[in-house]
Amino acid sequence: MIVINTIAELQIELNAHRQDSKQIGFVPTMGNLHQGHLSLVDVAKEHADIVVVSLFVNPTQFGPGEDFDSYPRTLDQDCKMLEARGTDIVFAPNMEEVYPKWPNITSVNVAELDKLHCGASRPVFFGGICTVVTKLFNMVDPDCAVFGEKDFQQITIIRRMVTDLNFAIEIIGAPIVREANGLAMSSRNGYLSAAEKDHASNLYKTLQWAKSEIETGRRDFRKLEEEANKNLAALGFTPDYFNITNQETLDLAKSDDKKLVILLGCYMGKVRLIDNITLNL
Ligand code: PAJ
Repeated sequence: MIVINTIAELQIELNAHRQDSKQIGFVPTMGNLHQGHLSLVDVAKEHADIVVVSLFVNPTQFGPGEDFDSYPRTLDQDCKMLEARGTDIVFAPNMEEVYPKWPNITSVNVAELDKLHCGASRPVFFGGICTVVTKLFNMVDPDCAVFGEKDFQQITIIRRMVTDLNFAIEIIGAPIVREANGLAMSSRNGYLSAAEKDHASNLYKTLQWAKSEIETGRRDFRKLEEEANKNLAALGFTPDYFNITNQETLDLAKSDDKKLVILLGCYMGKVRLIDNITLNL
């Protein structure tokens, strides 16, 4: 495995592989890796010959007062984990490399979808993500890129961006990796104590409960959302949203929709956690 910090070096390395007709797979991350991230490397290896993982904590997707400064940066540990998992290239650019003129005045926005769910309370979030993912796609120019379904709205928006901007990149979704207690793995779980992590498993339990209510025939989705929000509040969470949505459009689901995803965002103290569960009726 090699660790590269500049776009120029990355392109020399990747051009050599392209001349050898190798397929390039890309996994963008913000580092502080866990088994969820590493599972994306496995998926990328199934689809490509050379796997590039980027590590970059992207400032433009954090709003004022969010955890950009305190977001954990663990380069050495990340590289060890990536090497053990068979990554070929780690791309860890610095701020000047990614944003040569700061602040950038050009950005990529996927309208409408970026206002829903997480976007409602985080107005700059998806614009920042689309902008940095576009930049990273331009730098790596991969054949395919792998994103986790943990961030269901993110992958939906990236797919739309790739379609709208004619990127010739196949977007591959990878399933959510969970702790034994059901809590979706996340870098932000590192902010929680062991007891809090245990309690946070109630998020997945609430999603499973709502899913089983729907599977056993309930179709009063708005009422079910209200009940779930109440249950979460009673458990001490501060719910941001609990939305039963159409898997393709991410609009609030209608009672006759068949492919659903329940999206959940909430705070446990100051820590923001998200999760989701899909249903195919
Ligand atoms: P980050 O939060 O580091 O996540 C990187 C990738 O790992 C994303 O595709 C995310 O969905 C996936 N991932 C995280 N936890 C997962 C889990 N428990 N199971 C499966 N996949 C999981 O998402 C970002 O970074 C950034 O927004 C980024 C796309 C890198 C742009 O800055």
